[in-house]
Amino acid sequence: MTAPKHGAGPIAIDETPGKKSYCTCGWSAKLPHCDGSHNRLATGCKPVKLEVTEPGRKWVCQCHQSRTPPWCDGTHKTLSPGG
Ligand code: FES
Repeated sequence: MTAPKHGAGPIAIDETPGKKSYCTCGWSAKLPHCDGSHNRLATGCKPVKLEVTEPGRKWVCQCHQSRTPPWCDGTHKTLSPGG
């Protein structure tokens, strides 16, 4: 089993409409999208799946503490370094 890997701040992307799967384990090679690594590494995490209806700039949470996943809500600014 591999522990989740958390980032310090969000990843900004210009997202396109459609069904999306956002990584919550931090090990995806396609961050912020899921590439299935959560299963391969047995992280115990599951991606956040949703349908994006409008194209545009999105900030995807990487600290995995956001109250509005997968989107950043600024919670990373309240966390201590490394935690
Ligand atoms: S690869 Fe991280 S949640 Fe799927």
